[in-house]
Amino acid sequence: MKPLELSCITGVWKTALGILNENLAAIGSDLQLWFPWGGIWRGHDRNGILPPTDFPEELVGSGVSRFGGRLWKSFSLNNTSWLISLRAPVSASCGMEQWELPANAEESLKMLTDFVRLECLLGLTMKILENQSREHVGHWDRVRNFSVAISGELGLSQRELADIELAAMLHDIGKIGLPDELLELAGPLDEEERKKVEAHSLIGAAMIREIPGMEMIAEIVLGHHESPDGSGYPRGLKLEEIHLGSLIIAVADSFDAMTHYRPYAIERTYLESFNEMKNEKGKFAPEVMAALERVLKRLGIFESKPLVGRSEDW
Ligand SMILES: [Fe+2]
Repeated sequence: MKPLELSCITGVWKTALGILNENLAAIGSDLQLWFPWGGIWRGHDRNGILPPTDFPEELVGSGVSRFGGRLWKSFSLNNTSWLISLRAPVSASCGMEQWELPANAEESLKMLTDFVRLECLLGLTMKILENQSREHVGHWDRVRNFSVAISGELGLSQRELADIELAAMLHDIGKIGLPDELLELAGPLDEEERKKVEAHSLIGAAMIREIPGMEMIAEIVLGHHESPDGSGYPRGLKLEEIHLGSLIIAVADSFDAMTHYRPYAIERTYLESFNEMKNEKGKFAPEVMAALERVLKRLGIFESKPLVGRSEDW
């Protein structure tokens, strides 16, 4: 079992389903919401994710229909076809014909489609980086999970969480052009090597900034090696100048480096790694460290060692 919610997007599904359940309570119950994913449909209900399903084509674009003992309505939003389904009597069909998506659900559904498209693309991109170096196997995914958990603990909004989650997935994308020998280097880096590795924040941010609407994510990636005391790179910013998302990813990134295989790191318990980071005064934002501590305590894993090399571990 995964110890954390894997994605901030779980919260967006819950919000959307909550609004729709309330809005459609007079027509039916046991609401499901589906969207197409490749050749199949992915759906959620109040209890979570539903098994991927293949629906008959007639369900889509036909307005209201009955199928499998349920009432269905298809609609289009953000260039995506959606299906909404309820347990409801045949007599409820008329009410469903006239039903329109409430404005407050629209924002959640738009976020879901935007996020899922990007998530798919970014997941593929990061697999390419993973193949380049053993150092990266699963790193981006674990940093993503830690970052989401810390952001949730800090009470950030769903939009902020989505930005930070995407930035966490992409934080090292700028390493994609670095030679393999440099990524695998076991010893300390010389001046020239260090400059090359440190350029990955700038390169990654420049790559992401090219994508319309991703400016905030580019800014978060740019700052993921900044430190509150100004000793980080590339700009040497101070605590109040660094985006909170960058501060969160910096903590998640270092914590994963300490708790998982790296050529220059040894295996330690979560608590030992956490304490070592805490002793590095000025390196990490105190409020982010406090949030990580609460997450680890809540999960009850503070005293345990990470299970290195297991794909289901974070
Ligand atoms: Fe990095």
